[in-house]
Amino acid sequence: MLGGGLVIGSSVLIGGDPGIGKSTLLLQALCNLGKNLKVLYITGEESIQQIAMRARRLELPEDKLLLLAETQVEKIINIALQEKPDIIAIDSIQTMYTEAIPSAPGGVGQIRDCTAQLVRYAKQSKTALFVVGHVTKEGTLAGPKVLEHMVDCVLYFEGDSDSRFRVIRATKNRFGAVNELGIFAMTDRGLKEVSNPSAIFLANHDTQISGSSIMVTWEGSRPLLVEVQALVDESHLANPRRVTVGLDPNRLAILLAVLHRHGGIPTYDQDVFINIVGGVRITETAIDLALLLAVLSSIRNRPLEKGLVVFGEVGLAGEIRPVQSGQERIKAAIQHGFKKIIIPKANAPKKPSSEIEIIAVKNLSEALQAVR
Ligand code: TYD
Ligand code: MG
Repeated sequence: MLGGGLVIGSSVLIGGDPGIGKSTLLLQALCNLGKNLKVLYITGEESIQQIAMRARRLELPEDKLLLLAETQVEKIINIALQEKPDIIAIDSIQTMYTEAIPSAPGGVGQIRDCTAQLVRYAKQSKTALFVVGHVTKEGTLAGPKVLEHMVDCVLYFEGDSDSRFRVIRATKNRFGAVNELGIFAMTDRGLKEVSNPSAIFLANHDTQISGSSIMVTWEGSRPLLVEVQALVDESHLANPRRVTVGLDPNRLAILLAVLHRHGGIPTYDQDVFINIVGGVRITETAIDLALLLAVLSSIRNRPLEKGLVVFGEVGLAGEIRPVQSGQERIKAAIQHGFKKIIIPKANAPKKPSSEIEIIAVKNLSEALQAVR
Protein backbone atom coordinates (compact mmCIF):
# COMPACT_ATOMS: atom_id res chain seq x y z
CA MET A 1 0.00 0.00 0.00
CA LEU A 2 2.93 2.29 0.61
CA GLY A 3 4.09 1.73 -2.94
CA GLY A 4 7.06 -0.48 -2.25
CA GLY A 5 8.23 0.36 1.24
CA LEU A 6 8.59 2.71 4.14
CA VAL A 7 10.63 5.87 3.54
CA ILE A 8 13.12 7.03 6.16
CA GLY A 9 11.94 10.19 7.94
CA SER A 10 8.43 9.90 6.53
CA SER A 11 5.17 9.86 8.43
CA VAL A 12 2.19 7.65 7.70
CA LEU A 13 -1.30 8.25 9.04
CA ILE A 14 -3.52 5.19 9.53
CA GLY A 15 -7.15 6.27 9.73
CA GLY A 16 -10.37 4.37 10.24
CA ASP A 17 -13.38 3.75 12.46
CA PRO A 18 -12.76 2.48 15.99
CA GLY A 19 -12.56 -1.31 16.10
CA ILE A 20 -11.85 -1.74 12.41
CA GLY A 21 -8.36 -3.16 12.91
CA LYS A 22 -5.84 -0.31 12.96
CA SER A 23 -4.01 -1.51 16.06
CA THR A 24 -4.06 -5.09 14.83
CA LEU A 25 -2.54 -4.18 11.46
CA LEU A 26 0.07 -1.99 13.10
CA LEU A 27 1.05 -4.62 15.65
CA GLN A 28 1.43 -7.27 12.96
CA ALA A 29 3.51 -5.00 10.74
CA LEU A 30 5.69 -3.71 13.59
CA CYS A 31 6.47 -7.15 14.99
CA ASN A 32 7.65 -8.29 11.58
CA LEU A 33 9.63 -5.10 10.97
CA GLY A 34 11.13 -5.57 14.43
CA LYS A 35 13.05 -8.61 13.21
CA ASN A 36 15.51 -6.33 11.41
CA LEU A 37 14.81 -2.84 12.73
CA LYS A 38 14.42 -1.18 16.10
CA VAL A 39 10.73 -0.50 16.57
CA LEU A 40 9.04 1.54 19.30
CA TYR A 41 5.27 1.12 19.72
CA ILE A 42 3.64 3.76 21.90
CA THR A 43 0.15 3.11 23.14
CA GLY A 44 -2.19 5.53 24.80
CA GLU A 45 -5.21 3.27 24.57
CA GLU A 46 -4.29 -0.18 25.79
CA SER A 47 -1.95 -1.44 28.49
CA ILE A 48 1.40 -2.95 27.58
CA GLN A 49 0.15 -6.28 28.92
CA GLN A 50 -2.87 -6.21 26.61
CA ILE A 51 -0.72 -5.56 23.58
CA ALA A 52 1.86 -8.16 24.51
CA MET A 53 -0.94 -10.66 25.07
CA ARG A 54 -2.43 -9.92 21.67
CA ALA A 55 0.96 -10.30 20.01
CA ARG A 56 1.47 -13.67 21.67
CA ARG A 57 -2.00 -14.85 20.76
CA LEU A 58 -1.33 -13.91 17.13
CA GLU A 59 2.02 -15.72 17.43
CA LEU A 60 3.92 -12.65 16.29
CA PRO A 61 7.67 -12.33 16.80
CA GLU A 62 7.24 -9.76 19.60
CA ASP A 63 10.39 -10.30 21.63
CA LYS A 64 12.26 -7.39 19.99
CA LEU A 65 9.34 -4.94 19.97
CA LEU A 66 9.77 -1.99 22.35
CA LEU A 67 6.44 -1.17 24.00
CA LEU A 68 5.66 2.00 25.87
CA ALA A 69 2.45 3.23 27.47
CA GLU A 70 2.72 7.02 27.37
CA THR A 71 0.58 9.92 26.24
CA GLN A 72 2.77 12.99 26.64
CA VAL A 73 4.54 13.86 23.44
CA GLU A 74 7.52 15.58 25.10
CA LYS A 75 8.25 12.42 27.12
CA ILE A 76 7.84 10.25 24.04
CA ILE A 77 10.31 12.33 22.08
CA ASN A 78 12.80 12.23 24.99
CA ILE A 79 12.62 8.46 25.11
CA ALA A 80 12.99 8.28 21.34
CA LEU A 81 16.09 10.51 21.55
CA GLN A 82 17.64 7.99 23.98
CA GLU A 83 16.50 4.79 22.29
CA LYS A 84 16.93 5.95 18.69
CA PRO A 85 14.37 3.59 17.12
CA ASP A 86 14.12 3.23 13.33
CA ILE A 87 10.34 3.23 13.50
CA ILE A 88 7.93 4.85 15.96
CA ALA A 89 4.21 4.09 16.05
CA ILE A 90 1.70 6.25 17.93
CA ASP A 91 -1.61 4.56 18.81
CA SER A 92 -3.60 6.77 18.77
CA ILE A 93 -3.02 10.47 18.18
CA GLN A 94 -6.33 11.28 19.89
CA THR A 95 -4.93 10.07 23.22
CA MET A 96 -1.75 12.15 23.02
CA TYR A 97 -1.23 15.57 24.57
CA THR A 98 1.46 18.20 24.71
CA GLU A 99 2.36 20.54 27.56
CA ALA A 100 2.59 23.36 25.04
CA ILE A 101 -1.20 23.61 24.81
CA PRO A 102 -3.49 23.83 27.83
CA SER A 103 -6.56 22.14 26.28
CA ALA A 104 -7.56 18.51 26.82
CA PRO A 105 -6.27 15.62 24.64
CA GLY A 106 -8.34 14.87 21.56
CA GLY A 107 -9.01 18.50 20.64
CA VAL A 108 -8.00 19.86 17.27
CA GLY A 109 -5.25 22.05 18.70
CA GLN A 110 -3.74 19.19 20.68
CA ILE A 111 -3.88 16.80 17.75
CA ARG A 112 -2.31 19.29 15.41
CA ASP A 113 0.49 20.26 17.76
CA CYS A 114 1.28 16.69 18.84
CA THR A 115 1.43 15.55 15.23
CA ALA A 116 3.62 18.51 14.26
CA GLN A 117 6.12 17.71 17.02
CA LEU A 118 6.25 14.03 16.13
CA VAL A 119 6.55 14.64 12.39
CA ARG A 120 9.34 17.15 13.01
CA TYR A 121 11.17 14.66 15.22
CA ALA A 122 10.78 11.92 12.59
CA LYS A 123 12.22 14.13 9.85
CA GLN A 124 15.15 15.36 11.90
CA SER A 125 16.08 11.96 13.31
CA LYS A 126 15.37 10.03 10.09
CA THR A 127 12.82 7.85 11.85
CA ALA A 128 9.76 6.46 10.11
CA LEU A 129 6.58 7.42 11.94
CA PHE A 130 3.16 5.74 12.02
CA VAL A 131 0.28 7.67 13.53
CA VAL A 132 -3.10 6.05 14.18
CA GLY A 133 -6.10 8.36 13.97
CA HIS A 134 -9.72 7.51 14.70
CA VAL A 135 -12.35 8.68 12.32
CA THR A 136 -15.63 10.22 13.31
CA LYS A 137 -18.86 8.86 11.88
CA GLU A 138 -18.93 11.64 9.28
CA GLY A 139 -15.82 10.09 7.82
CA THR A 140 -13.39 12.88 8.56
CA LEU A 141 -10.36 12.19 10.66
CA ALA A 142 -11.19 13.65 14.03
CA GLY A 143 -9.05 16.69 14.52
CA PRO A 144 -10.22 17.23 11.04
CA LYS A 145 -8.31 17.20 7.81
CA VAL A 146 -5.35 19.02 9.39
CA LEU A 147 -3.64 15.71 10.03
CA GLU A 148 -3.73 14.64 6.42
CA HIS A 149 -1.77 17.70 5.30
CA MET A 150 0.95 17.15 7.86
CA VAL A 151 1.90 13.59 6.96
CA ASP A 152 3.42 12.07 3.82
CA CYS A 153 1.06 9.14 3.41
CA VAL A 154 -2.51 8.46 4.47
CA LEU A 155 -3.81 4.90 4.71
CA TYR A 156 -7.50 4.71 5.27
CA PHE A 157 -9.65 1.73 6.28
CA GLU A 158 -12.74 1.62 4.08
CA GLY A 159 -15.87 -0.44 4.42
CA ASP A 160 -17.51 -1.35 7.70
CA SER A 161 -16.34 -3.49 10.57
CA ASP A 162 -19.31 -5.86 10.13
CA SER A 163 -17.83 -7.38 7.02
CA ARG A 164 -15.01 -9.89 7.29
CA PHE A 165 -12.93 -8.01 4.76
CA ARG A 166 -10.97 -4.82 5.25
CA VAL A 167 -10.07 -2.60 2.34
CA ILE A 168 -7.26 -0.18 3.07
CA ARG A 169 -6.63 2.59 0.58
CA ALA A 170 -3.61 4.86 0.26
CA THR A 171 -5.46 8.14 -0.27
CA LYS A 172 -2.26 10.17 -0.19
CA ASN A 173 1.29 9.10 -0.89
CA ARG A 174 4.23 11.41 -1.54
CA PHE A 175 6.36 8.45 -2.56
CA GLY A 176 4.13 6.18 -4.62
CA ALA A 177 0.84 5.62 -6.39
CA VAL A 178 -2.31 6.78 -4.66
CA ASN A 179 -5.44 4.68 -4.46
CA GLU A 180 -3.26 1.64 -3.92
CA LEU A 181 -5.47 -0.92 -2.21
CA GLY A 182 -4.60 -3.47 0.42
CA ILE A 183 -7.22 -6.12 0.96
CA PHE A 184 -7.27 -8.15 4.14
CA ALA A 185 -9.53 -10.61 5.89
CA MET A 186 -10.04 -10.24 9.65
CA THR A 187 -9.57 -13.70 11.09
CA ASP A 188 -9.14 -15.04 14.62
CA ARG A 189 -5.40 -14.85 13.89
CA GLY A 190 -5.42 -11.16 13.00
CA LEU A 191 -5.46 -9.60 9.54
CA LYS A 192 -4.50 -11.86 6.65
CA GLU A 193 -3.74 -10.52 3.21
CA VAL A 194 -6.19 -11.70 0.54
CA SER A 195 -4.08 -13.00 -2.31
CA ASN A 196 -6.80 -13.04 -4.95
CA PRO A 197 -8.94 -10.06 -4.00
CA SER A 198 -11.12 -10.19 -7.09
CA ALA A 199 -12.70 -13.38 -5.85
CA ILE A 200 -14.23 -11.65 -2.83
CA PHE A 201 -15.83 -8.86 -4.81
CA LEU A 202 -17.53 -11.23 -7.20
CA ALA A 203 -20.58 -12.65 -5.50
CA ASN A 204 -20.74 -16.30 -6.51
CA HIS A 205 -24.06 -16.83 -8.20
CA ASP A 206 -25.00 -20.30 -9.38
CA THR A 207 -27.30 -18.75 -11.92
CA GLN A 208 -27.03 -15.36 -13.57
CA ILE A 209 -29.11 -12.69 -11.84
CA SER A 210 -30.79 -9.58 -13.19
CA GLY A 211 -29.33 -6.20 -12.36
CA SER A 212 -25.76 -7.37 -12.03
CA SER A 213 -22.70 -6.65 -14.14
CA ILE A 214 -18.98 -7.24 -13.68
CA MET A 215 -16.38 -4.56 -14.33
CA VAL A 216 -12.59 -4.44 -14.24
CA THR A 217 -11.48 -1.52 -12.14
CA TRP A 218 -7.91 -0.27 -11.88
CA GLU A 219 -7.02 0.76 -8.38
CA GLY A 220 -3.52 1.97 -7.61
CA SER A 221 -1.36 -0.34 -9.66
CA ARG A 222 -3.50 -3.42 -10.06
CA PRO A 223 -6.77 -4.54 -11.55
CA LEU A 224 -9.74 -5.69 -9.53
CA LEU A 225 -12.90 -7.39 -10.75
CA VAL A 226 -15.91 -5.94 -9.08
CA GLU A 227 -19.61 -6.67 -9.28
CA VAL A 228 -22.03 -3.78 -9.69
CA GLN A 229 -25.63 -4.41 -8.66
CA ALA A 230 -28.62 -2.31 -9.62
CA LEU A 231 -32.22 -2.45 -8.54
CA VAL A 232 -34.66 -0.40 -10.55
CA ASP A 233 -38.19 -0.30 -9.21
CA GLU A 234 -41.35 1.68 -9.85
CA SER A 235 -41.36 4.82 -7.72
CA HIS A 236 -44.28 6.41 -5.93
CA LEU A 237 -42.38 9.51 -4.99
CA ALA A 238 -42.40 12.89 -6.68
CA ASN A 239 -38.59 12.69 -6.64
CA PRO A 240 -37.65 9.08 -7.29
CA ARG A 241 -34.82 7.79 -5.15
CA ARG A 242 -31.23 7.54 -6.31
CA VAL A 243 -29.32 5.59 -3.70
CA THR A 244 -25.74 4.39 -4.09
CA VAL A 245 -23.39 2.39 -1.90
CA GLY A 246 -19.73 2.64 -2.87
CA LEU A 247 -20.30 5.23 -5.59
CA ASP A 248 -20.96 8.95 -6.01
CA PRO A 249 -24.75 9.45 -6.34
CA ASN A 250 -24.23 12.47 -8.64
CA ARG A 251 -22.46 10.24 -11.12
CA LEU A 252 -25.50 7.94 -11.11
CA ALA A 253 -27.85 10.86 -11.83
CA ILE A 254 -25.71 11.95 -14.79
CA LEU A 255 -25.54 8.44 -16.22
CA LEU A 256 -29.29 7.94 -15.94
CA ALA A 257 -29.79 11.16 -17.89
CA VAL A 258 -27.43 9.89 -20.60
CA LEU A 259 -29.26 6.56 -20.67
CA HIS A 260 -32.53 8.38 -21.31
CA ARG A 261 -31.26 10.92 -23.83
CA HIS A 262 -28.93 8.67 -25.84
CA GLY A 263 -30.32 5.21 -25.10
CA GLY A 264 -34.01 6.09 -25.08
CA ILE A 265 -34.49 4.35 -21.73
CA PRO A 266 -36.31 6.50 -19.15
CA THR A 267 -35.99 6.11 -15.38
CA TYR A 268 -37.74 9.30 -14.23
CA ASP A 269 -40.56 7.27 -12.64
CA GLN A 270 -38.25 4.65 -11.17
CA ASP A 271 -36.26 4.36 -7.94
CA VAL A 272 -32.69 3.33 -8.68
CA PHE A 273 -30.47 1.64 -6.09
CA ILE A 274 -26.83 0.81 -6.78
CA ASN A 275 -24.50 -1.34 -4.70
CA ILE A 276 -20.86 -2.19 -5.28
CA VAL A 277 -20.43 -5.69 -3.86
CA GLY A 278 -17.88 -6.26 -1.10
CA GLY A 279 -17.78 -2.79 0.44
CA VAL A 280 -15.23 -1.36 -1.99
CA ARG A 281 -15.60 2.23 -3.21
CA ILE A 282 -15.21 2.98 -6.90
CA THR A 283 -14.17 6.51 -7.77
CA GLU A 284 -13.11 6.07 -11.37
CA THR A 285 -15.38 6.68 -14.36
CA ALA A 286 -14.48 3.32 -15.92
CA ILE A 287 -17.44 2.00 -13.96
CA ASP A 288 -19.97 4.01 -16.04
CA LEU A 289 -20.75 1.43 -18.68
CA ALA A 290 -20.97 -1.44 -16.18
CA LEU A 291 -23.36 0.61 -14.11
CA LEU A 292 -25.65 1.40 -17.02
CA LEU A 293 -25.71 -2.23 -18.13
CA ALA A 294 -26.63 -3.32 -14.60
CA VAL A 295 -29.44 -0.75 -14.58
CA LEU A 296 -30.62 -1.92 -17.98
CA SER A 297 -30.56 -5.55 -16.88
CA SER A 298 -32.68 -4.70 -13.84
CA ILE A 299 -35.20 -2.73 -15.92
CA ARG A 300 -35.56 -5.64 -18.31
CA ASN A 301 -35.48 -8.14 -15.46
CA ARG A 302 -33.12 -10.19 -17.59
CA PRO A 303 -29.57 -11.20 -16.64
CA LEU A 304 -26.63 -10.17 -18.76
CA GLU A 305 -24.83 -12.92 -20.62
CA LYS A 306 -22.72 -15.27 -18.46
CA GLY A 307 -19.00 -14.58 -18.66
CA LEU A 308 -19.45 -10.96 -19.73
CA VAL A 309 -17.30 -8.21 -18.29
CA VAL A 310 -17.20 -4.53 -19.17
CA PHE A 311 -15.43 -1.22 -18.59
CA GLY A 312 -15.62 2.25 -20.09
CA GLU A 313 -16.44 5.86 -19.32
CA VAL A 314 -19.71 7.25 -20.65
CA GLY A 315 -19.65 10.88 -21.85
CA LEU A 316 -22.55 13.31 -21.80
CA ALA A 317 -22.94 12.97 -25.57
CA GLY A 318 -23.39 9.22 -25.17
CA GLU A 319 -19.88 8.52 -26.39
CA ILE A 320 -17.87 5.73 -24.76
CA ARG A 321 -14.53 7.17 -23.73
CA PRO A 322 -11.29 5.28 -23.18
CA VAL A 323 -9.87 4.65 -19.73
CA GLN A 324 -6.30 4.14 -18.52
CA SER A 325 -4.64 0.70 -18.49
CA GLY A 326 -7.09 -0.81 -20.99
CA GLN A 327 -4.80 -3.67 -22.02
CA GLU A 328 -4.09 -4.65 -18.43
CA ARG A 329 -7.81 -4.69 -17.68
CA ILE A 330 -8.47 -7.01 -20.61
CA LYS A 331 -5.67 -9.26 -19.41
CA ALA A 332 -7.20 -9.41 -15.93
CA ALA A 333 -10.58 -10.37 -17.39
CA ILE A 334 -8.95 -13.23 -19.33
CA GLN A 335 -7.10 -14.39 -16.21
CA HIS A 336 -10.38 -14.65 -14.34
CA GLY A 337 -11.94 -16.74 -17.04
CA PHE A 338 -14.28 -14.21 -18.66
CA LYS A 339 -15.26 -14.95 -22.22
CA LYS A 340 -16.55 -11.66 -23.53
CA ILE A 341 -15.65 -8.05 -22.84
CA ILE A 342 -17.26 -4.78 -23.89
CA ILE A 343 -14.73 -1.95 -23.99
CA PRO A 344 -14.30 1.57 -25.43
CA LYS A 345 -13.25 1.57 -29.09
CA ALA A 346 -10.16 3.62 -28.26
CA ASN A 347 -9.02 0.93 -25.81
CA ALA A 348 -9.30 -1.88 -28.39
CA PRO A 349 -6.11 -3.86 -28.96
CA LYS A 350 -4.74 -3.90 -32.53
CA LYS A 351 -5.14 -7.65 -32.89
CA PRO A 352 -8.22 -9.59 -31.80
CA SER A 353 -7.63 -11.94 -28.90
CA SER A 354 -7.99 -15.71 -29.14
CA GLU A 355 -8.83 -15.93 -25.45
CA ILE A 356 -11.69 -13.46 -25.12
CA GLU A 357 -14.27 -11.99 -27.47
CA ILE A 358 -13.67 -8.23 -27.52
CA ILE A 359 -16.53 -5.92 -28.43
CA ALA A 360 -15.24 -2.39 -28.92
CA VAL A 361 -17.95 0.28 -28.84
CA LYS A 362 -17.93 3.96 -29.83
CA ASN A 363 -21.16 5.06 -28.21
CA LEU A 364 -23.96 4.01 -25.92
CA SER A 365 -26.23 2.69 -28.66
CA GLU A 366 -23.48 0.33 -29.85
CA ALA A 367 -23.08 -0.88 -26.28
CA LEU A 368 -26.83 -1.40 -25.94
CA GLN A 369 -26.80 -3.30 -29.26
CA ALA A 370 -24.15 -5.62 -27.84
CA VAL A 371 -26.38 -6.71 -24.96
CA ARG A 372 -29.69 -6.87 -26.80
P1 TYD B 1 -8.35 -3.18 16.63
O1 TYD B 1 -7.11 -3.40 15.86
O2 TYD B 1 -8.25 -3.12 18.11
O3 TYD B 1 -9.16 -1.91 16.10
P2 TYD B 1 -8.77 -0.35 16.14
O4 TYD B 1 -7.38 -0.24 16.63
O5 TYD B 1 -8.95 0.10 14.73
O6 TYD B 1 -9.76 0.30 17.03
O7 TYD B 1 -9.34 -4.35 16.17
C1 TYD B 1 -10.34 -4.71 16.98
C2 TYD B 1 -11.26 -5.64 16.27
O8 TYD B 1 -10.62 -6.66 15.53
C3 TYD B 1 -12.12 -6.31 17.29
O9 TYD B 1 -13.47 -6.08 16.96
C4 TYD B 1 -11.76 -7.75 17.23
C5 TYD B 1 -11.12 -7.93 15.92
N1 TYD B 1 -10.02 -8.91 15.92
C6 TYD B 1 -10.19 -10.14 15.36
O10 TYD B 1 -11.26 -10.47 14.82
N2 TYD B 1 -9.15 -11.04 15.36
C7 TYD B 1 -7.97 -10.74 15.92
O11 TYD B 1 -7.05 -11.59 15.89
C8 TYD B 1 -7.80 -9.45 16.51
C9 TYD B 1 -6.49 -9.07 17.15
C10 TYD B 1 -8.84 -8.57 16.50
MG1 MG C 1 -6.75 0.55 18.47
